[in-house]
Amino acid sequence: MSGVNEIRSTFLDYFRKNGHEVVPSSPLVPRNDPTLMFTNAGMVQFKNVFTGLETRPYSTAVTAQKCVRAGGKHNDLDNVGYTARHHTFFEMLGNFSFGDYFKERAIELAWNLITKEFGIDRTRLLVTVYHTDDQAFDLWKKIAGLSDDRIIRIPTSDNFWAMGDTGPCGPCSEIFYDHGDHIWGGPPGSPEEDGDRFIEIWNLVFMQFEQLTKEERVDLPRPSIDTGMGLERIAALLQGKHDNYDIDLFRALIEASVEATGVPAEGEARASHRVIADHLRSSAFLIADGVLPAKDGRGYVLRRIMRRAMRHAQLLGAKEPLMWKLLPTLVGEMGRAYPELQRAEALISETLKLEETRFRTTLERGLTLLSDATNTLHKGDMLDGETAFKLYDTYGFPLDLTQDALRAREIGVDLAGFTDAMERQKAEARSHWAGSGDKATETIWFELKEKFGASEFLGYDTETAEGVVQAIVRDGKAVDSASAGDEVQIVFNQTPFYGESGGQMGDTGTIAGDNAKLSVSDTHKKGEGLFVHVATVAEGTLKVGDAVALTVDHARRSRLRANHSATHLLHEALREVLGTHVAQKGSLVAPERLRFDVSHPKPMSAEELRVIEDMANEIIVQNAPVTTRLMTVDDAIAEGAMALFGEKYGDEVRVVSMGTGVRGAKANRPYSVELCGGTHVSATGEIGLVRIVSESAVGSGVRRLEALTGEAARAYLAEQDERVKALATALKAQPNEVLARVEALVDERRKLERELTEAKKKLALSGGGSAGGDEGVREVAGLKYLGKVVTGVEPKDLKSLADEGKKSLGSGVVAFVGVSPDGKASAVVAVTEDLTGRFSAVDLVRRASEALGGKGGGGRPDMAQAGGPDGGKAADAIEAVASALAG
Ligand code: ALA
Repeated sequence: MSGVNEIRSTFLDYFRKNGHEVVPSSPLVPRNDPTLMFTNAGMVQFKNVFTGLETRPYSTAVTAQKCVRAGGKHNDLDNVGYTARHHTFFEMLGNFSFGDYFKERAIELAWNLITKEFGIDRTRLLVTVYHTDDQAFDLWKKIAGLSDDRIIRIPTSDNFWAMGDTGPCGPCSEIFYDHGDHIWGGPPGSPEEDGDRFIEIWNLVFMQFEQLTKEERVDLPRPSIDTGMGLERIAALLQGKHDNYDIDLFRALIEASVEATGVPAEGEARASHRVIADHLRSSAFLIADGVLPAKDGRGYVLRRIMRRAMRHAQLLGAKEPLMWKLLPTLVGEMGRAYPELQRAEALISETLKLEETRFRTTLERGLTLLSDATNTLHKGDMLDGETAFKLYDTYGFPLDLTQDALRAREIGVDLAGFTDAMERQKAEARSHWAGSGDKATETIWFELKEKFGASEFLGYDTETAEGVVQAIVRDGKAVDSASAGDEVQIVFNQTPFYGESGGQMGDTGTIAGDNAKLSVSDTHKKGEGLFVHVATVAEGTLKVGDAVALTVDHARRSRLRANHSATHLLHEALREVLGTHVAQKGSLVAPERLRFDVSHPKPMSAEELRVIEDMANEIIVQNAPVTTRLMTVDDAIAEGAMALFGEKYGDEVRVVSMGTGVRGAKANRPYSVELCGGTHVSATGEIGLVRIVSESAVGSGVRRLEALTGEAARAYLAEQDERVKALATALKAQPNEVLARVEALVDERRKLERELTEAKKKLALSGGGSAGGDEGVREVAGLKYLGKVVTGVEPKDLKSLADEGKKSLGSGVVAFVGVSPDGKASAVVAVTEDLTGRFSAVDLVRRASEALGGKGGGGRPDMAQAGGPDGGKAADAIEAVASALAG
């Protein structure tokens, strides 16, 4: 057993066989500790288990934990490359007991593993204990049989381990290996302890206390165990090496780097290859855990690491980006133990290539500036802060890169001057936003942003995280605390809550601290980078500085994600079906639905909508992974990513791709590729289903689609289905017969209506249905007069009825008055052709109208129509016409 992978699995197996749960490494971005930049020890993921806040289904565990020590408290960045055992990324092997076993069993397990399983020569081992820990001293003696001189009491904090200023802590006992007297150095506690002869290989922490504040320390609920062994160190020992960079894993990486550059790992190039190998590991693992290079926070630490390696690649004379070429070797070495590395390989590769390509454009010029500025300087001199700031600001040189570049010549950097230059630039920016009117009311957010920097958004990868309260704003003013009932806006150093932007609504959820509970009703982005949580204090008091658990409403966020991803799919489908003139004009991604406005000159047909919907669903069914990459705007657009006109983008953008095109120009290529900062499903299948429910106009040339996804779409369709079933039942038909049945019914109804009209007319003419008891045709002034009140005949049918009346009279005058159900009357008067010289239908109908309480009437001499409000006078109207005829 000697390879790194073998040592790791031997460790995990050993503790598994001894009843420990094998727990996967937690991500490098800690979810449960807002004070930590990166996970830097195995116990980080168990912090709340030690303090009793959280319980797990096991009481003992073992892990191989990814750790990064760069940025924040533990920062090894500056030393990497120049020493035998500093890394920015390393793996910590550890076993844990949460109130299960304590010192005795921990010592026994550790001693047996290293002496029996690993077969390390026991005569080369010695241990330290905290000076007052007699119990540990005695146990080492009893279990390991070590002589008193090889159990060293250490009175300093070296043997009292604490994860930070607060949190679980306790005395610890460290196991050291003596590499032999050919190497300089003395045992721990001796004046020569900093030498390289005695190397610590394992730290056993007897977790007993929790540090609450600087002064206050309490007992943990149950004494526990936390141990940490650096995998690289133990591998070096087991492989007979003294230097971590000589183990199999690093040899493979360094060989890849040597091969790619053609420069052997000797002389000055040795450090450069080591820097590249180490930084490749931290960069790749950070990117796999969702960190991308950025201007602030964790993303900036990643950028510093990457750029430091990239300068070393340049020192080695690499003509092209180098780091990404070494990635396959890393994935080959570590991908099986950490599958996230395999999953994110494409993203890591592209991010490395992009960063290195971009940085190389300024690196050369920056180094020239640096060499001009320092050519007169000597060992012990300082580079002025102004130049260091210019390198930082204009050439993208992180401060530590400049320091690293001057290290060999032992030239420092004037840090105060650097800070001054940075402050001057900030003051300039401040005068900018403070002066502009529309931003004046938002000044508070710019002030907070300047004080704290941008909030770190963790919500692409997690829905829960801890954050530290940086500011509480009530009624536009910063306050120190908020109590039950208060409505406030809160800023945290980091948050999983998405702030409303790009059409996607802000997240809602809860905030829980030791002393307060709040509900978050919305989240906004303010002051260019702050995430502002709109919250109400439900109970207790929240104070600035409190660490709290932030939990996004999971169900709501899931729906938001599905709707946002569906919007992208519809966007692409719209362009495919309607043409590339289709551009997004606005969108709303709400939890319950999505709304999408696009430029298109005319309504979409039902057929177009169906095809668009089918295409989007086709990609959903692919269940294709949704990938996010970071690119320059220009590169993204060159790749065909859809960018929204009028949106403001930083120099780097997130590009979200999903699905594989099935036909046309997109066949076998990424289907939807869009610049987007929103949150998305991880695979298209999570959308479930998309259903367009409406298409309408919003202003000229802009159409609006509304659609549903997932459960909402399913419920909508189920409701439609219920409706069809109810229809079928009412029609006494099968659902698939409903349409034919309804069409038949409509036809039949039309036919019946026609028949009914005819029958009513006949009835009216034949005397039946008369309301006035009229006898029908009579003689008036020697003419035949057919005057009748008719019921059941629509006003529109009165004219044709009058025509028929004329026909039946041959020569004469016809008057019909119909009364509608609401009591209003319509009258028609018709005069046969031979009589129009004597009587005008228009004149006659006016008489009828007067009788009905109306006025006017109109038509032609042979046929005229009028109305009146008083249907009760219908019979009078008939008589009025008769008397007009009578003269
Ligand atoms: N948590 C302990 C350490 O980091 C084991 O050394």
